[in-house]
Amino acid sequence: MTTVLRLTPDRPEPDAIAAAAARLRDGGLVAFPTETVYGLGVAALDAAAVRRLFAAKGRPADDPLIVHVADASGLGALVAERPAIVDALAARFWPGPLTIVLRRSPLVPNEVTAGLDTVAVRVPAHPVAHALLAAAGIPVAAPSANLFSRPSPTRAAHVLEDLDGRIDMLLDGGPTQVGVESTVLDLSGDVPVVLRPGAITLDMLRPLLPTARLRDGAATEGPQRSPGLLARHYSPRAPLTLYEGASERARERLRKDAEAARAAGRRVGLLVPEDDAAAVAARLYAALREFDADGVDEILACLPEGSGGLSQAVADRLRRAAAGRIVRCD
Ligand code: TXA
Ligand code: MG
Repeated sequence: MTTVLRLTPDRPEPDAIAAAAARLRDGGLVAFPTETVYGLGVAALDAAAVRRLFAAKGRPADDPLIVHVADASGLGALVAERPAIVDALAARFWPGPLTIVLRRSPLVPNEVTAGLDTVAVRVPAHPVAHALLAAAGIPVAAPSANLFSRPSPTRAAHVLEDLDGRIDMLLDGGPTQVGVESTVLDLSGDVPVVLRPGAITLDMLRPLLPTARLRDGAATEGPQRSPGLLARHYSPRAPLTLYEGASERARERLRKDAEAARAAGRRVGLLVPEDDAAAVAARLYAALREFDADGVDEILACLPEGSGGLSQAVADRLRRAAAGRIVRCD
């Protein structure tokens, strides 16, 4: 049985938070909202509990987890080294949707890091996440609270869709704000690398990290520096085709193909963004899940206009969902 507790997002009820924190300290699996997507939390230093989490999600053990802490002071116990730049980044971007990868301390179980010598850490900004982490008083490993290969959950209902009966508790704090997962920034190598684009963009990081760059081979399969970046991670059930290139042409071609598919009796889901990337990000995963619920045969999508803000993150997730089905329209 999964216990669902509904919370006031801005002022989470202390009793509910205390109950959820106790479950976490006991090794339980507790889903909770963050500002990006819902996470599935577990005591990060409890290897057996972490193994139960991998089983509940059906997640392969070679995909490492992000460890969440209430504030930057929680970082010390988790990492082997703390370059000065980390404090500057923390002061600027934490709490918030930035995950930092650093060399790990021996305290962090192999189950969390998938055997890597690094650990990913983040301080989430959502009041429910913050209250939970502060009350638990322990580091909490939390992947997105979806079944492996399903889109990340941005609403409590998405979590139940995938994990009802497989986890102990769900804190329902309403829809998440950002809608796509945190930026993952790897500081363990010589050059800072953004492994996964998110709401904290390269442009925002560059004043502090002038040499930072996006990882090579965006949205490709093959050996990954961050194994969770595989395409299927963000995929709806129906195949998604992404129309890229000059916006007008891409839209025209998409509509023609949609018409042809419909004429052939296929059910087609259209993802043709009218809004800016932030608005698209906020409802992207919900839209993909709705297409699945509607039982569409295929999804045709194009990118939001513009290149700033969350554009890169949205493009990244759509390319992964497309898994190579990309139509260039230059
Ligand atoms: O916004 C988010 O980050 C959400 C919320 C719940 O915080 N969490 C999330 O977790 O998206 P997950 O497990 O779905 O994605 C974690 C990503 C994966 O791509 C994983 O490979 C990468 O972080 N990662 C974790 N530890 C890593 C490490 N030591 N080195 C490189 N990448 C790592
Ligand atoms: Mg995930």
